[in-house]
Amino acid sequence: MLLIGIADSGKRGRVWGELAPTQVPDSTRLHPLERVLGQAGRIRPAMPESSPFEYVLGSGDGELARLARQQAVWSDQTEAWLDLLHLEPGATVLDAGCGPGEVLARLAGRVGPDGCLVGIDDSARWIEVAGARAAAEGWPRTELLHGRLEECAPKGDLDGRFDGIFCRWVLSFPPDPGALVQRFAEWLRPGGRLVVVDYNHEGVSLFPRSEGFAAVIRATRAWYESMGGSTFVAGDLPRHLRAAGLDLVEQLPVVRSGRPGSAVWNWAEEFFMGHSHSMEEAGLLTGAEGERFRTEWSERRADPDACFYSPIVVGFAAVKPRREP
Ligand SMILES: C[S@@+](CC[C@H](N)C(=O)[O-])C[C@H]1O[C@@H](n2cnc3c(N)ncnc32)[C@H](O)[C@@H]1O
Repeated sequence: MLLIGIADSGKRGRVWGELAPTQVPDSTRLHPLERVLGQAGRIRPAMPESSPFEYVLGSGDGELARLARQQAVWSDQTEAWLDLLHLEPGATVLDAGCGPGEVLARLAGRVGPDGCLVGIDDSARWIEVAGARAAAEGWPRTELLHGRLEECAPKGDLDGRFDGIFCRWVLSFPPDPGALVQRFAEWLRPGGRLVVVDYNHEGVSLFPRSEGFAAVIRATRAWYESMGGSTFVAGDLPRHLRAAGLDLVEQLPVVRSGRPGSAVWNWAEEFFMGHSHSMEEAGLLTGAEGERFRTEWSERRADPDACFYSPIVVGFAAVKPRREP
């Protein structure tokens, strides 16, 4: 198994992980990044450096646990979105913005032992966690790149490499998601598929209605926007996909809803209760609004007929056209 971490800021070649001598791949089949980093047979472990880019939700233990619970809540829908990739055993697939590897773990079974998993994320911690998981769970050949998707691989290096690219809950963060879709289109082989999953934030609601909750939703949207992102990126994705020369073939929207104590209720509670304080610190929510939200949410939690509706989450599948013969 090959595990690679590459720091951004031009510091290519920061490597961590280990390549067992018995598993050194044939160098003629190696991608340029692997040729640079992977031929020694044994790579000294070294921690990647932290990135100057601060991902708004952080990379602490709390976020690690939250992402695992989030995957559990959305697992059935995620399998349906992954089906849209039409992956064959032996495929090479990228999880763009892979986080600590929740989706890579699902992809491992889909590509099988002859497949190849590639994960890219801007968080050094997530790359480390995903690498440990790859080793512990025996994923197929796995490459993990640390860096921003916009700049982690030199132009041209990954072109035409992937049968499939998956990207869930990432494009709502960067300021230019269209440029990333363009990069993904270049990285796909002709006939390969891109599946992007992200928010259309309309529809997120709490019943009985709550002014405090409405304030937190306004603040959440402003929080993403303050980082240059958008919780409504799903609305722009058809345009971005077309501009990148991809054919949009399927669109699969999902809303989840639940009463107090349900998995989706707990998912919402963890996010909004936890982050309401950060939004106050960022000046996006007043102290009074934050207090009102927490009080009203607790009241709704004690009401067995209260109900939470998630934002609309949309999975888009697009195909890179095959070249004319
Ligand atoms: C909400 S998490 C989702 C993680 C994973 N895709 C999942 O669905 O479980 C967003 C992830 O995107 C990463 N991310 C955000 N913007 C990025 C960028 N421009 N380049 C690389 N990673 C990015 C963050 O570090 C974080 O791990």
